[in-house]
Amino acid sequence: MKKIVIFLFCSIFALSVGSCKRKKYTEVVEVPLPSVEEKLALGVPEDAKAEPGAFEITELKFGYDALAPNIDAQTMEIHYSKQYVSFTSNLNKALAGTESENSPIEDVFKKLDLSNTEVKNNLGGFYNHTLYFDVLTPKSSGKPTDTLASAIDKDFGSFEEFKTQFKESANKQFGSGWTWLIVDKAGKLQITNTQNQDNPLMSRAETSGTPILAIDLWEHAYYLNYQNNRKKYIDNFFNIINWKKVGDKFDEAISK
Ligand SMILES: [Fe+2]
Repeated sequence: MKKIVIFLFCSIFALSVGSCKRKKYTEVVEVPLPSVEEKLALGVPEDAKAEPGAFEITELKFGYDALAPNIDAQTMEIHYSKQYVSFTSNLNKALAGTESENSPIEDVFKKLDLSNTEVKNNLGGFYNHTLYFDVLTPKSSGKPTDTLASAIDKDFGSFEEFKTQFKESANKQFGSGWTWLIVDKAGKLQITNTQNQDNPLMSRAETSGTPILAIDLWEHAYYLNYQNNRKKYIDNFFNIINWKKVGDKFDEAISK
């Protein structure tokens, strides 16, 4: 009888250990791995909100993932909903209660005290990113049309020559900054660079004019996807330019 009891005890013990082992194994296997959807869980541009004030962020009319692979979704989300929103909120806070609060942004630039770093950086950050996000599209026509196409041919020789010069200028930019296509006082198109969040509307700009196209050359605009290969980001930027918008901005600039 003792033998049977011992045998039964051993059998039950062995079975429980076995079942524990099996259970543990099962639990490990059943730990859910992050799905692709979870890894790419993104917000929507409509949820991005800056502090209320004189200036508002420009509307992004496509999802954060719409420009991939030219610009990846995470970069777009952080850039638009965090960095751009932050510049806008800080600018609104800095201008609250001042006469600039109710002025057109061009006038705010004209009156800008360049020694006021807080206003200068946030004003530039707001203006520059507004233009940048305004001229991006997942459905680029690839080249300009109408009056802008003619002006580019006239001032650069051809669209291909313009692209080459714009890319060269962007690739030469040392450190953080921007490359611009501007309309100068004589109505001529020019390419120019600025450092940090400066732009061609600031009094210290080497080349002044009205910006109609801009590429952000800060690392935050491309590093997650391109790392040190800024050249490829600059090349691919030409896949996502909204030439209709750039053309409208050109027509508006020359009509002033
Ligand atoms: Fe940026």
